[in-house]
Amino acid sequence: MSANALYQPSEAFVKNANVSGMAAYEALCKEAETDYQGYWGRLAKELITWKTPFTKVLDESNAPFFKWFEDGTLNVSYNCLDRNIEKGLGDKTAIIFEADGGEVTKVTYSQLLAKTCQYANALKSLGIKKGDRVVIYISMSIEGVAAMQACARIGATHSVVFGGFSAQSLRDRIEDTGAVAVITADNQVRGGKLLPLKSIVDEAIALGGCEAIKNVLVVKRSGADIAMTAGRDLWMADVADQQATTCEPEWVGAEHPLFLLYTSGSTGKPKGVQHSTGGYLLHAALTTKWTFDLKADDVFWCTADIGWVTGHTYITYGPLALGGTEIVFEGVPTYPDAGRFWKMIQDHKVSIFYTAPTAIRSLIKAAEANDAVHPKSYNLSSLRLLGSVGEPINPAAWEWYHQHVGGSRCPIVDTFWQTETGGHMITPLPGVTPMVPGSCTLPFPGIQAAIVSETGDDMPNGQGGILVVKRPWPSMIRNIWGDPERFKKSYYPEDFKGKYYLAGDGAIRDEKTGYFTITGRIDDVLNVSGHRMGTMEIESALVSCTELVAEAAVVGRPDDTTGEAICAFVVLKRALPNTDEGKAIAKQLRDHIAKEIGPIAKPKDIRFGENLPKTRSGKIMRRLLRSLAKGEEITQDISTLENPAILGQLGQAY
Ligand code: WT7
Repeated sequence: MSANALYQPSEAFVKNANVSGMAAYEALCKEAETDYQGYWGRLAKELITWKTPFTKVLDESNAPFFKWFEDGTLNVSYNCLDRNIEKGLGDKTAIIFEADGGEVTKVTYSQLLAKTCQYANALKSLGIKKGDRVVIYISMSIEGVAAMQACARIGATHSVVFGGFSAQSLRDRIEDTGAVAVITADNQVRGGKLLPLKSIVDEAIALGGCEAIKNVLVVKRSGADIAMTAGRDLWMADVADQQATTCEPEWVGAEHPLFLLYTSGSTGKPKGVQHSTGGYLLHAALTTKWTFDLKADDVFWCTADIGWVTGHTYITYGPLALGGTEIVFEGVPTYPDAGRFWKMIQDHKVSIFYTAPTAIRSLIKAAEANDAVHPKSYNLSSLRLLGSVGEPINPAAWEWYHQHVGGSRCPIVDTFWQTETGGHMITPLPGVTPMVPGSCTLPFPGIQAAIVSETGDDMPNGQGGILVVKRPWPSMIRNIWGDPERFKKSYYPEDFKGKYYLAGDGAIRDEKTGYFTITGRIDDVLNVSGHRMGTMEIESALVSCTELVAEAAVVGRPDDTTGEAICAFVVLKRALPNTDEGKAIAKQLRDHIAKEIGPIAKPKDIRFGENLPKTRSGKIMRRLLRSLAKGEEITQDISTLENPAILGQLGQAY
């Protein structure tokens, strides 16, 4: 089929789907349009068990600080665990955990509740209470999910920091949240390698600014020797094992902050995206039900890490809120070989599989080079639905995923959303939407996505523009932790008359179908392998290497595997290096960035020049840098360049 062909979901799929057929989708959209509050209120009653019911759905009086279901009270962990057990699912498997080395551990809903309660009681025994922040720095594990659920149970706000972030990044987040405790593990294991966690927490705290931390709770993963600071550090087992396996949930208001999750913006330090309890849980459950069509006998696998929002919504909360069975995977897709995902789908009879385009692209390469790791060498007949997230999926990767992983029978949901949106915003519904490779198709029912001009006016279909959401929705970001001004400026800027949520992406709608295609960020945010990074953050990390770097500019360039690649242009304090020196300095700079931010922020290309190309007023010519990064011919006007020779210098990438 050609790249813009429509793929219809099969009749059998449509027949059994949780949302079945275009008419059902249109009816939901219509319901939302005619009675916005009634629509969300109805769903909030259907999907969530409230301790005290809400009397008002949406409060817009202090826009853009919207409030949803404000006077309702609930507990997320009650909704994810106890409630399912009360429905008779106590012995149902909640999580199938597969370790890096392949060992499998399963926990039932009753067992996960018992562990969550012990963790919750452990936190309480240390004086941690509702409203306190707890940082979680742990790899993929049942314990990680239980730690998040335990925080939710006692009303503590968690902030999970991805295990690949450096001590410096972890420190920044601990400080910004004012967390009173960190939950971590001695080590993490990825791709057969033992990597540190606890020692990085020690380093982070030693950097200063983490004075609010009273305790570090350490889950035993490897059992390797680690340092424990007396009076501060405790083994989780020593505190939790003796605790009761029941714990009365703390009933919190719907607007209580369930979690903070840091993400990159175009300027400044990463921002602490604050999410709510009620509205967030509603959308987590609803999108899992409608976009993933989750049913009682499904085995659901979202390959994201709990350190990212995808892992929050589609591992820790959504599937559990619906009583589903899910996979939690500790390892990496390429260990022990690039057939790992396919083998796990076969072994656990996974029926719904959700991953990122970057993973698909790297597995395509591996499969094309070696039949043994090609999906055709595995039995993937259990699959009935596939998903994609994090970045645009190129049509070729879509087609391969559809044909070779989905056996040409599974719909693919290309889900567009963001850390800030809490859950899916624009996505096919698998029993509804004819699919077009590379398009995230249509808004989720009730989401008022639109494309506008720079002044906030609607753009006709067929003309690209700026992606906005016209009305608030339940799972939207509530604030940037501690910085309401930045929240307003970033998401409800004056340019759009302060009315619309600004996603930060460009998009275009198809003239015929009205389908959305995301055209990429309109700010200085890069998306590398689905990881979001600000160019400024990387520039700051580079210039913080004060002994070497005088000035730096970072841009993105397209990359076949990672979507975008980081390209850094650096002016050194010393003379221009020769090739060998250049290699050594580039390595030094990459190591420095890994220390400042984390290995995911290492530039793919580093280029050196005696200066950076600037306009007469001294502004760095970023468009020119982007052309250089792509290896394009320079068509921009360079007559203002003081020293055109630097273009030659900047041509060599290390
Ligand atoms: C940015 C958000 C959503 C959870 C993971 C990433 C890009 C995300 C898609 C998609 C095209 C996508 C956007 C967005 N993005 N999904 N299906 N098609 N682009 O969350 O780190 O907050 O990044 O990822 O640019 O703004 P995030």
